[in-house]
Order: sequence, then structure tokens, then C-alpha cells
Amino acid sequence: KRKKTWKKKNEYCGHISLRFIAVLGLLWMFSQLSQLKIGKSAAYILRYQWLDYANDDESPEKVCNCSAILQGEKEALQQAKLLTISKDFQKSIQIPDEYYIDATQDCRKFQINRKYITFPLSKEEEDFPLAYSMVVHHKVQNFERLLRAIYAPQNIYCVHVDKKAPASVFAAIKAITSCFPNVFMVSEAVNVVYAGWTRVQADLNCMADLYNTSTTWKYFINLCGQDFPLKTNLEIVQALRSLKGGNSLESEEMPQGKKGRVTNRTGKTKDPAPFNLPILSGNAYIVVNRGYIRSVLEDEQIQALIEWAKDTYSPDEFLWATIQRMPGVPGSTWPNRKFDVTDMNAIARLVKWHWHEGSEGSLQAVYPECKGHHVRSICVYGAGDLQWLIEQHHLFANKFDADRDPIAVYCLEKYLRHKALTE
Ligand SMILES: *[C@@H]1O[C@H](CO)[C@@H](O)[C@H](O)[C@H]1NC(C)=O
Ligand SMILES: *[C@@H]1O[C@H](CO)[C@@H](O)[C@H](O)[C@H]1NC(C)=O
Ligand SMILES: *[C@@H]1O[C@H](CO)[C@@H](O)[C@H](O)[C@H]1NC(C)=O
Repeated sequence: KRKKTWKKKNEYCGHISLRFIAVLGLLWMFSQLSQLKIGKSAAYILRYQWLDYANDDESPEKVCNCSAILQGEKEALQQAKLLTISKDFQKSIQIPDEYYIDATQDCRKFQINRKYITFPLSKEEEDFPLAYSMVVHHKVQNFERLLRAIYAPQNIYCVHVDKKAPASVFAAIKAITSCFPNVFMVSEAVNVVYAGWTRVQADLNCMADLYNTSTTWKYFINLCGQDFPLKTNLEIVQALRSLKGGNSLESEEMPQGKKGRVTNRTGKTKDPAPFNLPILSGNAYIVVNRGYIRSVLEDEQIQALIEWAKDTYSPDEFLWATIQRMPGVPGSTWPNRKFDVTDMNAIARLVKWHWHEGSEGSLQAVYPECKGHHVRSICVYGAGDLQWLIEQHHLFANKFDADRDPIAVYCLEKYLRHKALTE
């Protein structure tokens, strides 16, 4: 029967063109089959393997078994802990600031050696650029590894280095940023004071630069140097798209203990907020759309709120949360308490506070105990925290310290890179 059809066709077409079509058809079928059969993993090996963080990369942490660590296996975690406290290892992981100035002399080489991803990994990511504000004051190694983990050529990154940071930190970070056209230093740096207004001002300056530099980005995310992502860029894009224009940040009723912060200033009572705006409680880290940033930069009510907030204690802990509940701000919700969002429900940032740690089933506990160590009551994650961390919905977690607990960063970056390349 088949022969017959061939023959029949032969009557319409010449021999040569028929053969040509048959060959084309075969080629097409072959390409379809090979796509089905080889599947994603082989395609990944062919295209992207050189970007994976391999075990033979120069790295003192390479003796760790990260897949066992990510599964929470006790033996692997014990080994990681022993390695971390050994003197030789501690010495081997220190990277002086000058290293980055040398390494970035040849930017192409730096990008290749450090395996930066310099092309969009998918159309979906390319069509959904992000804007990052990164506020840094020390630990250049943390910053560089964070940048590498979130870097994508379609995104833009504003870096604010504290005005009082050591000259070597500033020079190293400036050298790194100069290797990427879409990473820049903030146009105006400030002296960031803990719990003071300048922490907000640093982000505001980056917001203005980011807003002014590019009109295409969809969402804004602010980071500090000791954050690290828990998701790949594609997962971040997908999580943001599913917000459908909404913002995601902590914004809830002000706890009694913090109310004095906005009613008192140096013992004197402070006027209520302008327009009697209800002041809500939150934190410094936000995930907001472009319209929210436009409002922050241009809306007159928000300008008045900003002026009012400048002499309060830790304004970062209420300003963004309050703006998120103002009518007319893109992606905001109504101020009614039913729309309150806690830090655990928002996707912006995961932070483990000492006093909320405990065991599952306890009414006080919010998360399992910190496996690293604490700095100012905040958990600096250890390798033992990773298994729990990667199950959370947050896009970023705070804090990591590549000098103290390098295995946590090492295994997390390896896990994310492999996932990004096989997605
Ligand atoms: C690392 O741990 C995984 C999971 O337990 C195990 O399957 C694998 O064999 C280990 N690899 C090495 C090199 O020990
Ligand atoms: C944006 O950048 C231009 C050129 O540098 C500058 O003139 C303008 O004032 C900036 N606008 C804002 C809002 O920063
Ligand atoms: C604020 O100041 C008032 C008047 O000085 C005082 O009664 C009140 O206790 C203060 N509240 C806080 C939280 O400091």
C-alpha cells in the first residue's frame, strides 16, 4: 500500500524533488525523535555543563558531599562541621579584597573563570527583567558570590557601598561591578547608620537610579551583602508572575512594644503621621512592582510620610509596610487587618530570629533551631539549615557568612546552579 502512494505521488512530482522531500522529511522525523529520546538531561550536558559548578573547580570546600548535606545526613554534616573549624581550612577560604581587583583586570576571563551566566537561560526570564538594590558594607566575598548567584544579563543591579566602608572594600566591589554593563554603583552613597534613616536612604538612592536607568524591569528586590537566594532566576520570575502585579512584603499591625518608636522621639511626643496614615510594621526587605517604586519616588503623600519618618527609630521597619497599605499604590492592599502579611507569609525574606526557634508543635516556635550561630539574635545559617531552607517559599534568606560557614553557601550555590541549568 505504501509503495502505491509513493508511486502515485511520483506521478505528480519529479524524481529529484521527491527524493529531496523524502530526505527532508526523514531529517525532520529524526530531529523530533532525538528531541524526545535524548530529553532534557542530555541536552543540558551538551549545552550548559561547562557552567555547572563541578567538583574539580578550585575550591577548598570540594571535599564536602553537598547532596548528602542537602538531605540533612548527619555524617556529612558532622564532617562539614569538623572541616569548618580546622585552622588550615579557615585560612584557605579567606580571599583578600585585592584578589578581586586583580581578577577583574580581564573581565571576560573573570566572567568565564567564575562561570557567570551571560545569556538569558529562557525566553520567560528574558521577558521579565528584575531590578536589584544591593546594600553592602563589608565581606566582598559574600557580595561576589551573591551577585554570581543572581546575575542574569537581562536584570539590572544597583550596588550601594557604605560611605564609611574601607577603601579596599569599595575598590574591590567597584572593580567587580565594572565588569558588567548592567551592574552599577549607586550615584550617591550615604553613611549607613544602624537603625537610622540612612539605611532607607541607601535603598531610595538605588531605587531612583534603577527607575531612571531602565524602563523595562518588572519587579524590584532589595538585598544586603549577607543575603543569598533560595530560588533560581526562573523560579523567582515565576513566583513574581504568580503575584499578578501584587507586592510581597511583611506588613502587619505594629506590636505594642514598637509603638513608641513612631510616637516618641527623644522623649518628646511626635506628631501623628501625615494624613493620619495608619503605621504598619514590617522589615527592610521588599519585593515590589515598578509602580510601587514610582509611587515612592513621586507620590506627594509618600514624600510627606518620608519626611515625617526621617527622625524615627528604625524607619525601615515600618516605612515600606505602611506604603504597602496606602490606597492607590500599585500592588498594595487595603489597610484592614485582614490583609496583614507576616514575614513568614511574604516571599521577600526568610530570617530566623533566636526567640522564634523551637520544635514543631510548640505554639511559640516558628522554625527549627539554628544550626549555625547567632549574630544580634539572627541566625547565620550553617550547612545543617540548608535542608529546611530550600523547602521554604521565600526568594531570599538572611544571613549567610562565607567566612564563618562557607559550606552553607558552597552547597546552596551548587544546588541552585545545577537546578538553573537543568530547568
Ligand atoms: C554523597 O551522598 C549521597 C547521598 O547520601 C550518596 O548517594 C553519594 O554516594 C555520596 N557521594 C560521595 C562521593 O560520597
Ligand atoms: C535621570 O537621569 C538623568 C540623566 O542623568 C537626570 O538628568 C535626571 O535628573 C534623572 N532623574 C531622576 C529622577 O533621577
Ligand atoms: C512615649 O513618651 C510618653 C511621654 O513621654 C511616655 O509616657 C511613654 O511611655 C513613651 N512610650 C514609649 C514606648 O517610649
